[in-house]
Amino acid sequence: MPVHLRAEPGDYAENVLVPGDPRRARYIAETFFEGAKLVNEERGMLGYTGTYKGKPVSVQTSGMGCPSAAIVTEELVQLGAKNLLRVGTCGGYNREMQLGDLVIATAATPQDGTVLSLTQGVPYSPAADFKLVHAAFHAAEAAGRKTFLGPIVSGDLFYDPTEDPGAQWSGLGVLAVEMEAAAIFTIAAMKGVSAGCLLTVSDTIGKEEVVRISDEDLKRGVDEMMELALDTL
Ligand code: HPA
Repeated sequence: MPVHLRAEPGDYAENVLVPGDPRRARYIAETFFEGAKLVNEERGMLGYTGTYKGKPVSVQTSGMGCPSAAIVTEELVQLGAKNLLRVGTCGGYNREMQLGDLVIATAATPQDGTVLSLTQGVPYSPAADFKLVHAAFHAAEAAGRKTFLGPIVSGDLFYDPTEDPGAQWSGLGVLAVEMEAAAIFTIAAMKGVSAGCLLTVSDTIGKEEVVRISDEDLKRGVDEMMELALDTL
């Protein structure tokens, strides 16, 4: 039994949604799963297993930031997970983005300490699994969702003190910032499993000022993303 996910092999399905927020994990299980069973509550890192359209599926909170996400990814793999799909929110750097838009990450630049520690400083480009990207893109197209597909950056800071943190990244074609995908992609690659990442834009950065989505609009965007994520898996 791993240290933080107090579960046994078989308690999790091979397909796992990975949100940052424990309440979102509970919401996903209660709203979208049939027969949801709580499989972890250690440290409030809620995890559930149930079925979706008759197929086994789990949801497991990653917590915030790459160090927490790295622990959870490692332990999910120990417990038999094969496809990990992060579902979260991001700050949008792309000028065309609107609050609530969907981002499918193809790669996540590691601007964090965890991936640097894992790779011992070797330059490395954490990438999403192509099958998951492909499936997510087609699910989004079928649902008629406007989609931003491309690279993101995983940072260590939510409250970034630099004056215009998005300017350099958007100049490099980076769509958005979040805080977990690079570690999840890297550990998945090291362990030979698949990982992907779907995000809802919760704030736009680099327009006149940071603009934050309302709770109601965020819920709508996240709900739509969850159905896509479940269909993707
Ligand atoms: N920065 C980092 N992570 C985030 C943000 C952000 O602005 N919004 C949602 N996740």
